[in-house]
Amino acid sequence: MRPHSDPGPRTPGPGPRSGRAKIAVLLSGRGSNFVALAEACARGEVPAEIVLVLSDKPDAPGLERARERGIPTRAIPRKGLGREEQERQMVAAIREAGASWVCLAGYMRILGPELVSAFPERILNIHPALLPAFPGLEAQHQAFEYGVKVSGCTVHLVDAGCDTGPIVVQRAVPVLDDDTPETLAARILEQEHRAYAEALRLLLTRPWRVEGRRVVFS
Ligand code: GAR
Repeated sequence: MRPHSDPGPRTPGPGPRSGRAKIAVLLSGRGSNFVALAEACARGEVPAEIVLVLSDKPDAPGLERARERGIPTRAIPRKGLGREEQERQMVAAIREAGASWVCLAGYMRILGPELVSAFPERILNIHPALLPAFPGLEAQHQAFEYGVKVSGCTVHLVDAGCDTGPIVVQRAVPVLDDDTPETLAARILEQEHRAYAEALRLLLTRPWRVEGRRVVFS
């Protein structure tokens, strides 16, 4: 039940651009959520700066999209290292970049204690369903196959579980009769891009605390 107001106690002291949080983005794929966050930061909607894009996949298209924007990138594959060592190297890279927040944007691995405990209550994830429904992989397909009439997306703080951390923002998306898993996923993705920027803006600009499972803004 610790109150937060960022830049908070874990955030490094104000630098030349005081008030702008430094963010590391972790991704494994195309990176559309990363691009949406980068654009929201560039428009001044989110008082943050993406200082590193990190991937477990050296060929992730999201890394190229970061390079196009002049944002430093690193790839630290798990292969040959194992989870613990890979995450230790990721923590070192994130700290070296000066980031105090970590945004998972299509990072398709469950984080281990090395990463989660290094940035307590400072790691965010976006999930393409209304948690706690349909955690894990291919959430949009799971929702479609189940036959729900409403799905959506969730931005949550990351804890040691799989898609289980306290929820910051959710956005609902109706499932239409003529939807396919692909058309549903596309409409959810549009809302993901809005929800992620909204969640980060709220956490960086408003006092907040975690009460049990609830993220409470005052
Ligand atoms: C997004 O739909 C994101 O919610 C999902 O992967 C996609 C990444 O797209 N993440 C998960 O399913 C995590 N459980 P992007 O690379 O275009 O941002």
